[in-house]
Amino acid sequence: MPIDSLLPIQNLVCDGMTESVPLLGSLASVDDSDIGRVRTVVIRQFDPQQMTISISADVRSAKVAHLARRPMAEVCLWFSESRIALRMLATWKIFRGDSQDAQHNERLQRFWEAHSAASKTLFLGPAPGDRCTPTVIDEIPVRFPATFAEIAGHIEEIDALEIRRGRHLRWHHTRQSQATWESTELNP
Ligand SMILES: Cc1cc2nc3c(=O)[nH]c(=O)nc-3n(C[C@H](O)[C@H](O)[C@H](O)COP(=O)(O)O)c2cc1C
Repeated sequence: MPIDSLLPIQNLVCDGMTESVPLLGSLASVDDSDIGRVRTVVIRQFDPQQMTISISADVRSAKVAHLARRPMAEVCLWFSESRIALRMLATWKIFRGDSQDAQHNERLQRFWEAHSAASKTLFLGPAPGDRCTPTVIDEIPVRFPATFAEIAGHIEEIDALEIRRGRHLRWHHTRQSQATWESTELNP
């Protein structure tokens, strides 16, 4: 699969989103002590026109605090079949469930409705990362809870690496404007 332009990369991510297994990525952030942190996340949405990507998270989680403070961070995806790694630098905007913005809440409601019941329960318990306090969730609300957040990334750069027997290939794609990208081949 070529990685020398945006189109095959867009197709690769779109195809990955339609598989029955969720598309996983590793999302980086920087904490309050300037330590780089990384965690596994599900890629929930990808818009190839806008080149944006969305992840759901708990408002109370560390990653939300980190990205609110330092909104530029990479998310890394690995496609084992095509042996391609995409390292995508994005500027992340957080749509918080505890915000009062009506337009933003409409968007968040649609995002909430796209989650399975099992995924929704993850936002209804005690704060992630706190000392364990087991709870029972007996009702899933129709409206998103205040703890729910969409982390939406506006992709600025993509570093694509194809692992080949013989010679690896590496292409760097940089957003020049909303719809134009510049592509350069790099040494792997
Ligand atoms: C397969 C898998 C998928 C995950 N997906 C998400 C996700 O989409 N969103 C999320 O906030 N955490 C997800 N997690 C949990 C995170 O990896 C992490 O443990 C948690 O969000 C706390 O991270 P933080 O303290 O850095 O915010 C997932 C974990 C695994 C193993």
